[in-house]
Amino acid sequence: MIKVVVAGCNGLLGRKLIDYAPTGYNIIGVDLPESCPALAAVNYFSQDLTDKKSVFRLLQEVKPDYIINAAAYTNVDGAETDRELCWRLNVELPEHLIYCARKLNFNIGHISTDYIFDGKQGPYTETARPNPLGYYGRSKLAAENLFAASAIDYFIVRTMVLYGERNNGKHNFVTWLIDQLENDKHVKIVNDQIGNTTLVDELAIGIWKLIALKFNGVVNIAGTEIINRFEFAQTIAQVFNLDTSLIQPITTAELHQAAPRPLKSGLIVDKAINELNIELSNVSGGLNKFKYMYKGKTSPEYQ
Ligand SMILES: NC(=O)c1ccc[n+]([C@@H]2O[C@H](COP(=O)([O-])OP(=O)(O)OC[C@H]3O[C@@H](n4cnc5c(N)ncnc54)[C@H](OP(=O)(O)O)[C@@H]3O)[C@@H](O)[C@H]2O)c1
Repeated sequence: MIKVVVAGCNGLLGRKLIDYAPTGYNIIGVDLPESCPALAAVNYFSQDLTDKKSVFRLLQEVKPDYIINAAAYTNVDGAETDRELCWRLNVELPEHLIYCARKLNFNIGHISTDYIFDGKQGPYTETARPNPLGYYGRSKLAAENLFAASAIDYFIVRTMVLYGERNNGKHNFVTWLIDQLENDKHVKIVNDQIGNTTLVDELAIGIWKLIALKFNGVVNIAGTEIINRFEFAQTIAQVFNLDTSLIQPITTAELHQAAPRPLKSGLIVDKAINELNIELSNVSGGLNKFKYMYKGKTSPEYQ
């Protein structure tokens, strides 16, 4: 039986990796909280992943075949000031996992982002030249470079704008917007940030496929359509029968966010479609699948 550790199993992606774990795998979840009642179906270990010694001991005891690293520092604006923690999680953790993989002989699946690009000439293939604008993107690129130089078996999935069920009370863009519009709140959404949007369920299914195929290397997994964030917001409102007139466009420059954003971004997903044979939705397709799940059911396509 293949043994897989999901690091960051209580996060947006981690939870879905647990939900979609194929039968016949032995799954071990690792995250910060002392207990995770929602993850009762898997063996769960509470572990601060920045504690290198105890991470090594845990992996030595568990003896996994794979670790999927879905743990990260994901606050893009926070990373500009909280640099030390961002580096510990996004660079030193993958570096330590690579060290452990060499000693203990397991493979790693790692998650990266379009923020490694500057957004001047997107959408990007897997071989495009990175040039991150902010600290989060730089930390994610530093981790990618460690894998590239590691000579271990690994895969890196680049993805962007994840959405899905609200996780541990934390909103993602789609659930936040639905919440705002349901409460008749006016929102301003940027119309100059362009890229794919990704139903986290499809990403999780894709990652399990990578493991089944023993994939090595870098692959983009995201929704198939490139759209600007304002248009995405309008499509969300349409799919969920909410009032589109509450959504006003704004430019990124007007927002004064701490971290610069890649504007003309996006990930070309041909490699995932051709080599992995997975289903990736366009914008309204993904949102309609999510709407079906949002009503408390699981879409039959995912069972
Ligand atoms: N979300 C997106 O739109 C997006 C886009 C592109 C790429 N990605 C990448 O996809 C991956 C997953 O992202 P996500 O959105 O699922 O992130 P997330 O929801 O923030 O999940 C990360 C998980 O890691 C946990 N964690 C943080 N520090 C830890 C520590 N010291 N020890 C153990 N666990 C720790 C977090 O716990 P706490 O919540 O308690 O901190 C959380 O459960 C990341 O590598 C991210 O960079 C995400």
